[in-house]
Amino acid sequence: MNSDRITQQLFKKYSIYNMLVSNTLNIQDFEQHVIASFEAALQSVVERMKCVDALKSVISYALFPAGKRIRPLFSLCLSRDIGGDTDKLLPVTCALEFAHCASLIHDDLPELDNDDVRRGRPSCHKAFSAGMALLAGDFMVPQALYIISTSSFTARERLDLVKSLSAAFTDLCNGQALDILPDDKRGDLGLIHQLKTGALFKTASRFAAVSADLNDKATTMCEELGLFIGVSFQIVDDFIDRFGTDQDRGRPQSSDSRNKKHTYFSEHSLEEGRAALTRMQEKIDQCLKDLGSELAKTGHFSGSFESVRYILNRIFSKVH
Ligand code: IPE
Ligand code: IPE
Ligand code: MG
Ligand code: MG
Ligand code: MG
Repeated sequence: MNSDRITQQLFKKYSIYNMLVSNTLNIQDFEQHVIASFEAALQSVVERMKCVDALKSVISYALFPAGKRIRPLFSLCLSRDIGGDTDKLLPVTCALEFAHCASLIHDDLPELDNDDVRRGRPSCHKAFSAGMALLAGDFMVPQALYIISTSSFTARERLDLVKSLSAAFTDLCNGQALDILPDDKRGDLGLIHQLKTGALFKTASRFAAVSADLNDKATTMCEELGLFIGVSFQIVDDFIDRFGTDQDRGRPQSSDSRNKKHTYFSEHSLEEGRAALTRMQEKIDQCLKDLGSELAKTGHFSGSFESVRYILNRIFSKVH
């Protein structure tokens, strides 16, 4: 049996298992269940990659032990709230984590943020070498698209997801490029946040919309929601870098201050940052309200955004 067929069978196996339990769970149990299934799916993707052993070690190091897994989790929580097929979606959210972790490997390189520590351990280029770190990132982005293209979504849906993730990663590169340009060339920080961080959250929400077979209007509304959440996430990340604990940051000192980076809190006061996050929360609330009304027309809506709100609470509660 070829490896694509094996992938499809594994996806099916997870599906049946998930379907039996996920509908009846409360949100905390849903999260635990989904994360356990997600970790298993991610592990199985890594095991089956056609990759030389040395490179596979670097990729495993970048993916495990886990970061917050916030993008897959957000995608699955939104899917759950809008009546999506979370079973079918789950293995595909590995693509979001592959793309995200690839971006982190490159982000830490000396030529970008020059960070030697990530998630409390040496960054990839320190644990291995700059060459291996570059190649691991290079490997992981097309691998993310491969994960989608061998999934159990229909051909039309797979194309949609591939297009969305490709667009997000090109946005991310544009955002990262602007972020390292000199002051007079880098442009607006809001745009940089949308590109380098918002875009992948926007894709995470499109994945959810596709899993629920939403119409174009509702899909666009989901994407807007994802973009706002992603931009908020980056402001919170800037907050943590500046004011958070070493444990929250995963590194012993502020990277952005050391790099003299422009972040939300180098350009604004703490109070302004808090006020901006409150405004973002209001925009997100409005998005959820509008999306809820739209979905109610088509019978997709479960009646609340309990799971998305659970994720939002996790993001916003980091700021005090
Ligand atoms: C860090 O992302 C990079 C940003 C876009 C802010 P995460 O904070 O999601 O990183 P991990 O995966 O949890 O370590
Ligand atoms: C990174 O932003 C955004 C990416 C697209 C990788 P940061 O540079 O602030 O992320 P951290 O703080 O190093 O995780
Ligand atoms: Mg950076
Ligand atoms: Mg960085
Ligand atoms: Mg940061």
